[in-house]
Amino acid sequence: MSGFSAFQAKMEAEGLSQAAIKAFEYSYSSLVSGESGMMTEASIQNVDDIPYLEGRAGCIHENIKADSSLLQKTVVLKLNGGLGTSMGLDKVKSLLNIKGTDTFLDMTAKQIMEMRKKYNSNVRFILMNSFSTSTDTLDYLQKYPDIVSDVELELLQNKVPKIDVATMQPATWKINSSKEWCPPGHGDLYPSLLGSGKLDKLLAQGYKYMFVSNSDNLGATLDLELLTYFAQKDTAFMMECCERTENDKKGGHLAKRIADGRLVLRESAQCEAADEAEFQNIAKHRYFNTNNLWIRLDKLAEELHKQGGLIKLPMIRNSKTVDPKDSSSPAVYQLETAMGAAIECFDNATAVCVPRTRFAPVKKCDDLLLLRSDAYVVTDDYRLVLAPECNGTATLMSLDSKKFKLVQQLEAALRGNVPSLIRCHRLKVTGDVGFAPDVILEGDITIVNNSKEQKTVLSGTYRNQTIDVTNQPG
Ligand code: UTP
Repeated sequence: MSGFSAFQAKMEAEGLSQAAIKAFEYSYSSLVSGESGMMTEASIQNVDDIPYLEGRAGCIHENIKADSSLLQKTVVLKLNGGLGTSMGLDKVKSLLNIKGTDTFLDMTAKQIMEMRKKYNSNVRFILMNSFSTSTDTLDYLQKYPDIVSDVELELLQNKVPKIDVATMQPATWKINSSKEWCPPGHGDLYPSLLGSGKLDKLLAQGYKYMFVSNSDNLGATLDLELLTYFAQKDTAFMMECCERTENDKKGGHLAKRIADGRLVLRESAQCEAADEAEFQNIAKHRYFNTNNLWIRLDKLAEELHKQGGLIKLPMIRNSKTVDPKDSSSPAVYQLETAMGAAIECFDNATAVCVPRTRFAPVKKCDDLLLLRSDAYVVTDDYRLVLAPECNGTATLMSLDSKKFKLVQQLEAALRGNVPSLIRCHRLKVTGDVGFAPDVILEGDITIVNNSKEQKTVLSGTYRNQTIDVTNQPG
């Protein structure tokens, strides 16, 4: 393709695989051809007939007899290549403390070890790291010899060149050439598996099923009933979805494309302004993607070989500067793809509705504070679930979006103290607020600081009230 040769040369010089180059070329061609990727309401049908894992008559839980022999052929893969930039991180997000001194990675390692013990089966575990997360992650995991001793624990994902907006050619940044590259999003799972030879190796070793989830989602454990269901369905691809609520209506949803009857995801960027109301209609478009996916490795290999080594995923364009910390550096595009979008690439791909307990991602400081609090407890198999006292409903969190945007701001507010939220239905914080030890918040709580400096909520129990700390001494 014209205009791509400099990218090809740069990627080859870096030793990237042909699968990686092909995937990037596909994204780049979408960028230069100006494809909108829009999905009109008229081109899709709503989906309202997917099976439920539990909680209703005829659900999977009622009908499946879990088959633990499948575990020998199953790989659990955690996506760990992202940096959590939206929370101000520039190191591995899964190294954030989540419960006491335990990080996401500790919890994941413990989940895997517990599962291996429970089923007396050496469940295969793979971490997909990126060039920015590999060293820190592997160093940290040294404290779990049972995990790091795994051969081929890591799948190192690809990197792709940033694109200079002015020239549409590879961006250069002599001061620090590592800034010329970025991770290509978790859609890179497929080219990474293929290009690294890992896919063929796993198949040769007898692996057939892969369960993939985000490293910041500690609800996503390997569920034996779902595995058994997936195996029985004999399909290439299964997506775990949850029911959309008012809080989720701005995010993407599952649908069926009328033209070929395939399941698709429609993200907000793919929605025409005229279709916005329908996009947000949660009674019509009822399900969203949790990013917990089940993939049949043999069928993935078949599809990749059929398509010349490429799973065609819609491109996501991010506009940044080549050095994100230097706003005067050249403007670039970073191209990404999302792995869930592959649902449209397989015949007979399927989706199931799972309870929210399987979806506990940390996208904002609001999520992190809630998980750290006593509203979430650790189960025997190291899942983080809502405490029984919460009766299935998590605190509705609304922290000041400027003062609690970055993890560093949250740490400065908490100073090691985490308020009790187990009996708190709603927490709204406005302004720069810190917490003393032993703060217990119950019912509906609003905390206000109208001053410019951080003010502290003092130790004590607060119930259904507005706590104005504006005139508190610092
Ligand atoms: P997201 O990109 O949705 O979220 O990644 P994030 O990690 O919170 O990052 P920011 O804030 O958007 O920067 C979801 C999961 O996919 C992994 C992440 O590590 C996370 O577990 N991921 C993301 C990769 O493995 N590779 C990537 O290139 C991007």
